[in-house]
Amino acid sequence: MNNFIYENRTKVFFGQGCVKEFLSCLIGRYDTILLAYGQGSARKNGIYDEVLHILLKEGKNVVEFPGIMPNPTYKKVMEGARLVRNTGADMILGIGGGSVMDCCKAISLAARYEGDAWKNFWERKGIVDFEPVPLGVVVTTAGTGSECNGAAVITNEDKKVKTGYDYPVCNPLFALMDPTYTYSVPRMQMVSGAFDSLSHIMETYFSQPDEPNVSDEIAEALMRSIIKNLNQAVKDPRDYTARSNLLWDSTLSENRLIKLGKKCDFTCHLMGHQIGAYTDCNHGCGVAVLHPAYYRHIFRDGLSKFARFAVSVWGIPPEGKTQETLAQEGIQALADFIRKVGLPTTLRQLGVRDEAQMKQIADSCHYSPGGYRRMEPGEILEIFRECY
Ligand code: NZQ
Ligand code: ZN
Repeated sequence: MNNFIYENRTKVFFGQGCVKEFLSCLIGRYDTILLAYGQGSARKNGIYDEVLHILLKEGKNVVEFPGIMPNPTYKKVMEGARLVRNTGADMILGIGGGSVMDCCKAISLAARYEGDAWKNFWERKGIVDFEPVPLGVVVTTAGTGSECNGAAVITNEDKKVKTGYDYPVCNPLFALMDPTYTYSVPRMQMVSGAFDSLSHIMETYFSQPDEPNVSDEIAEALMRSIIKNLNQAVKDPRDYTARSNLLWDSTLSENRLIKLGKKCDFTCHLMGHQIGAYTDCNHGCGVAVLHPAYYRHIFRDGLSKFARFAVSVWGIPPEGKTQETLAQEGIQALADFIRKVGLPTTLRQLGVRDEAQMKQIADSCHYSPGGYRRMEPGEILEIFRECY
């Protein structure tokens, strides 16, 4: 394994009833809480009421910050940061999925920083040598794993860039994860979230080193778990076992654990983010469209791993097959799964308008140094055309 440092400061409270049981004792030392949430689901499904009731019972001053959009914008971040400064909020509590959690992390950073936060923390990886505003999250949908990392993926609409770095100091202090809170997530979001988690694992698994390492073993177990539990949750969205597994799979996929000792690729994420910056498409749907095409481009550069993926993750019998055949069958199984669960398969479905826009997006993409090989100039556009 490559050398690593491991840190994760988020304390997780997982399971049915965890908000009622633990929230009051987690907010004891704070006076004014910025209560941040999305565009209405938390109010509809009762989670907002449950949380607000606890905050008021504990005598907290509550500052409302509603309306965080999917793919949160830098403008929204700055609006939240101003509100924190103006009200003297000493804690942020987010209710939602990756978008709310990321926006809250970004607010917690920007509210305590005098300089140009975008330039110094999003445009390039900076050093956070101060404590952001304390943050807690109530997770309402599975997928990004944002609750246990320090990344805040933010869209800068003016610059047409969607990006974010993982700053360990920005990890939420606590995450409350009640699987029953995810029952009301619309089917497409449930599926795209699960695919996002799967994508985080694949983007890590398909990178050096390929010598035996425990991170890859955990990755395979997680991929099998997501596939099995998503199939079950599609059949019965209120299956507690399936929803609780999907929720924890999602955390484990992006809490840095499986990245230990690995280089990590994340090319599909870099491409997906830029498609999102131009079209505002759903994140999990974006990466779902890209994965099979990208893997058909690079599998020969990591052949043994792609063959192993076919056997260990999809259960494809290896007897009498070359590594090349097995690798291709594994990628096909992935593509079939994407179709079967109803995810989109073309860039057109994501809202990409035409060839000109496709080229503009391709030109704005960064290249990842961590994959099996670096994309050739022009190859990203080729992949986009294949997905169009
Ligand atoms: O806005 P509301 O009304 O809350 O509705 C949301 C939203 O429309 C809805 N939803 C959430 N929980 C629900 C619910 N609807 C009914 N019942 C519930 N319990 O679901 C929709 C999508 O929510 P969103 O938070 O946008 O989804 P997701 O969790 O997939 O987050 C996506 C964002 O996270 C970023 C993505 O780029 C994207 O901006 N990511 C963050 C990462 C991280 N911090 O580690 C890693 C990921 O790779 C990703 O980039
Ligand atoms: Zn993702």
